[in-house]
Amino acid sequence: MDAFEKQLREWLPTQRWYAGGARTIERVAVEQRTELVSGDPSLQLLLLSVEHTGGTDRYQLFLGTRSRLTGRLAHVHIGDGEGGAYYDAAHDSELTDRLLELVAGQAEVGPLRFRSVPGAGPLDVTLHSLAIPHEQTNTSLVYGEEYILKTFRRLVTGTNPDLELHLALVRAGSTHIAEPLGWYETDVDAEPTTLGLLQRFLRTGTDGWLLATGSVRDLYAEADLHADEVGGDFAAESERLGAATAAVHHDLAEALGAEPTGSAAELSRTMREHLAEARREAPSLAVHARAIDERFAAFPDQVDTFTVQRVHGDYHLGQVMRTTDGWVLLDFEGEPEHPLEYRRAKTSPLKDIAGMLRSFDYAAEHLLVEQYGDPQHEYRAREWSARNREAFCVGYADEADTDPREQRALLHAFELDKAVYEVVYESRHRPSWLRIPMNAIERIVGDSD
Ligand SMILES: Nc1ncnc2c1ncn2[C@@H]1O[C@H](COP(=O)(O)OP(=O)(O)O)[C@@H](O)[C@H]1O
Ligand SMILES: [Mg+2]
Repeated sequence: MDAFEKQLREWLPTQRWYAGGARTIERVAVEQRTELVSGDPSLQLLLLSVEHTGGTDRYQLFLGTRSRLTGRLAHVHIGDGEGGAYYDAAHDSELTDRLLELVAGQAEVGPLRFRSVPGAGPLDVTLHSLAIPHEQTNTSLVYGEEYILKTFRRLVTGTNPDLELHLALVRAGSTHIAEPLGWYETDVDAEPTTLGLLQRFLRTGTDGWLLATGSVRDLYAEADLHADEVGGDFAAESERLGAATAAVHHDLAEALGAEPTGSAAELSRTMREHLAEARREAPSLAVHARAIDERFAAFPDQVDTFTVQRVHGDYHLGQVMRTTDGWVLLDFEGEPEHPLEYRRAKTSPLKDIAGMLRSFDYAAEHLLVEQYGDPQHEYRAREWSARNREAFCVGYADEADTDPREQRALLHAFELDKAVYEVVYESRHRPSWLRIPMNAIERIVGDSD
């Protein structure tokens, strides 16, 4: 093992985007190394393959080298070697400015291909980049206040659905997306594989989760008022969000097809399997497992087939932004923990609707866990959630040809499936939040239809 590999083995698990958890890393190999900026500092794009006890993952790393590391980069130091200090150059704006030039110039550098979206207009390459602080599974660079480049940290072989769906939606003329402007890719296992996506930065955008939870805080602060009486009432926004969601679903169906071929029997089987697996991990599900399973077993009696199409796939309030022009949907990657084939599969748009309805519940109830646990607040949280969930469905139904509330059996099944997943997640990571999905399960299985 060389010194660099040893440094990476220690450094990778300390990164938020690293997906291997605490599993022991057995080997780190550099599969591809391309120099993008030479000199001091220099920039190389590395593809790493990381073998650990649970399998092999691939990552993209912008590796910077400087003879002397300045203080502002100390927090991204990886190690030292030939030529100086190695560090994560995603945080070095002196180097990342170059990426925009490469996209604008449609450059090909070694195995890397940089592309701009035809018709998107010229890019201003004089802008400077900054890595945004709320780094999550990916790392994004903002250029001026004009563009945002999302660099995918963990790579999945193939075209990322985030790029694929953004290109389809911009061709369909969607006004509810951040315009895609370019991307860069390389071949992995002989397949073009997306490494990054450049989009218009939403200068006036505010995160949907922040807006929604702000409204809940307002409600809690107004001791005696109801959700429809307080200044921060969110229902009109929820209704507009429902309409935006329906418009995007419509455009996705038109661009990439919709077929009435979804099999309720098959979906029911999958959901029952999810439940069986979840029960093994989350004993708290036991009390409701039978009732949930009965719901899953029963819906194919009411619904035989349903329409399937491409959907967002990981839809919640943290994936939407409110701009002065309306709601915008972000991040069409799907659930990153699933294989690409599953993420690209057509399914019912009710899956997205259920995801957002669950998110309204979380927005309403997470403060109960953290600060307020009394029945009065609990009642008000329910009221907020019910009001906004309903408004979202009204907005959706007004814009679409279908009303999600008329497909209750299927919608409830998707919500239950999501809540079962949440129970597993919360038992693993935040046991005090468990009651949020448990409350939802109780509500749905207690509902008589
Ligand atoms: N076009 C954009 N304009 C402004 N902010 C954005 C834009 N795209 C993403 N963001 C911000 O970055 C966050 C993460 O983006 P997202 O695409 O969801 O990446 P991730 O895969 O890391 O979740 C968003 O929640 C939002 O705050
Ligand atoms: Mg996201």
